[in-house]
Amino acid sequence: MSLDDVILLLHPALAVVVVFPLIGIVLNRAILTRRRRLQTPSGKSQIAPTVGSEHLQLGRWLTGSVVGVALLGLAYPIGSKILETKRWTTHPFQVVFILFMFLTTIGSLILLYRARPWYWRAIFAGLTSLGVIVLGFQDGVFRRDNEWFVSHFYYGLVATVLMILSLAMVQDIYRDRTQVWRRIHILLNCLATLLFFGQGLTGTRDLLEIPLSWQKPHLDRCDFVNQTCPNVSSQLPVVSPPLV
Ligand code: HEM
Ligand code: HEM
Repeated sequence: MSLDDVILLLHPALAVVVVFPLIGIVLNRAILTRRRRLQTPSGKSQIAPTVGSEHLQLGRWLTGSVVGVALLGLAYPIGSKILETKRWTTHPFQVVFILFMFLTTIGSLILLYRARPWYWRAIFAGLTSLGVIVLGFQDGVFRRDNEWFVSHFYYGLVATVLMILSLAMVQDIYRDRTQVWRRIHILLNCLATLLFFGQGLTGTRDLLEIPLSWQKPHLDRCDFVNQTCPNVSSQLPVVSPPLV
């Protein structure tokens, strides 16, 4: 496998090895947190009181890993396009801007982890989300605009923004006695869970559609609209039958 193929595999491998197991644990702790909260007024619950803080700790890791994996997924096609077209010779400012956006997005996420007052959380959540969105609309990213409803890109973008919002609203969930923020959190994250399932499905589909680098020149000759490839058997060298 060439270095190019290995770099392409980093994103799906990290998603499968790190992000999806984390989603499983976060979901488990979320269900236990809710069950415990609903059981507690009517008597003693068997569920450990630590489930809420475990959900929060792992949720914080989940936000970081989802943003990280999304940025990695975007960096590969954007970087490939820049290298392929030698963009820095024709549009040097665009290349600097893209680098700046990657750094600003990561910096804003770090500051979001540290922010406490609501306005800083809103500003850094906004900046992180904006960074991911702006990077998503750069040249080279395969967005599947004509089939947006089954697009790995759009599902990933929305799921990433929902994780950023979850991190930004933690303090509000704890402070709010009316439970409105808690309900908003549940609603948004049920949607995020569905989108994560979608990411699993659309990601494996996309992986199947991307050829290894040595196969690419051959597959480039195929007609992807009509789903046909040149007849390979007609191009094979004619081998004369052995003389007996
Ligand atoms: C797959 C994504 C997630 C789902 C499905 C989810 C779902 C839930 C559910 C069902 C609850 C319990 C609500 C109740 O008590 O009725 C909860 C609580 C909470 N979630 Fe999440 N959540 C997710 C991700 C996150 C993330 C990423 C964070 C933060 C970074 C987070 C922070 C919290 C906090 C602070 C609570 C309150 C915990 C407590 O009561 O001690 N969640 N979540
Ligand atoms: C948390 C889950 C995930 C998120 C947030 C995510 C996000 C993204 C984003 C934003 C992109 C760039 C846009 C695009 O090309 O569609 C991308 C690309 C990609 N993702 Fe994911 N992804 C996730 C999981 C997965 C999984 C589980 C797989 C496969 C097993 C996968 C395979 C791919 C592939 C093959 C690409 C294309 C890279 C390219 O265009 O060169 N992703 N992902």
